Amino acid sequence: MIEVRNLTKQYGAKKAVDDLSFTVNDGEILGFLGPNGAGKSTTMNMLTGYISSTSGNALINGIDILDDPIAAKKNIGYLPEIPPLYLDMTVKDYLNFIYDLKKCKLPRKAHLEDVCSLVMIKDVYDRIIRNLSKGYKQRVGLAQALIGNPPILILDEPTVGLDPKQIIEIRTLIKRLGKKHTVILSSHILSEIQAVCDRVIIINGGKIAADDTTENLTKNISVDHRLIARIDGSREEIIKTIRNIPGVLTVVADMEREPGIYDYEIETKEDADIRRELFKRIVSRNWVMLGLKSTEMTLEDIFLKITMGDNVVIKTKKSAEEKTEKFEQDAEGISEKTEEAAETVSEENKEDKKEGEE
Ligand SMILES: Nc1ncnc2c1ncn2[C@@H]1O[C@H](COP(=O)(O)OP(=O)(O)OP(=O)(O)O)[C@@H](O)[C@H]1O
Ligand SMILES: [Mg+2]
Repeated sequence: MIEVRNLTKQYGAKKAVDDLSFTVNDGEILGFLGPNGAGKSTTMNMLTGYISSTSGNALINGIDILDDPIAAKKNIGYLPEIPPLYLDMTVKDYLNFIYDLKKCKLPRKAHLEDVCSLVMIKDVYDRIIRNLSKGYKQRVGLAQALIGNPPILILDEPTVGLDPKQIIEIRTLIKRLGKKHTVILSSHILSEIQAVCDRVIIINGGKIAADDTTENLTKNISVDHRLIARIDGSREEIIKTIRNIPGVLTVVADMEREPGIYDYEIETKEDADIRRELFKRIVSRNWVMLGLKSTEMTLEDIFLKITMGDNVVIKTKKSAEEKTEKFEQDAEGISEKTEEAAETVSEENKEDKKEGEE
């Protein structure tokens, strides 16, 4: 188990990590997500005893990393942002060196073979590290973290520099390792966090912006039900018709997607499912529905919202009510605008008619 309490790192006047507290339970795979300079690597460096903290503690299986670094580090395999490779060594010599450095007690040959086959570097075992491709260097870095079979793995951007096939292989490996190890990994790749991690901590400006399971995070951020419908028919009439469907809060015509055909973005009340009613009304007016899809907030949207400083509303009953009220006001505004537009259209029609009569 990893316990982090009020961990802070100050560089001059700047707090790179600002009062972080969190716990990682045994067997959990935690994803660290954050933009460049958020403090991910600094936090990982403090957790692993690479650098000291300005204040606060990190306990690794109950041992404070600063009080007893040797005992604490025995529990950790660390892949830093820049893997600590000796470029002039062969992979074989390097891994044997790490084995000795860690005072590993496992049977040497069998253990090194296991590690090399796990990260798929058996074919470069006798090569000099300097001459390996970036992806292979990264895998050698991962191999050194796995030597000694430590219960905790801390991996700073483990898939950076790998090709798509290797990324999938390493992700699968991390997931497999997560069954027996506690893993913290950092990544910029949101789909990776979603695919691999049980839980995600979003870190921004040295602080925790969110800490939840990936599933809950997507669920708890207030998502307004949004549909996008592509309909062939008169734009103003379509907007009016959709607005009259119970549960609809706003309707906006998006850009012209096909000649004379628009996408309509429809926001509805949280529990309203208007799809059937929408379809019936469109058909009754002899318009054609060319597409209908719901837009859900992805982890990417949430990440951008949190890190770009947007106000993210965590769903509570009160905030949902306030939001509905606000949307009703907005909707009134829109209906006025639509009516104005409709009037303009009918005026134009009158003009056309007059011209026709003349
Ligand atoms: N040795 C240092 N001296 C001064 N400032 C530092 C030092 N190391 C890191 N920083 C600063 O601390 C902040 C956090 O850096 P950190 O490397 O932890 O970010 P990160 O989240 O890992 O970013 P990236 O995604 O780019 O790897 C940055 O503003 C960085 O400039
Ligand atoms: Mg980093």
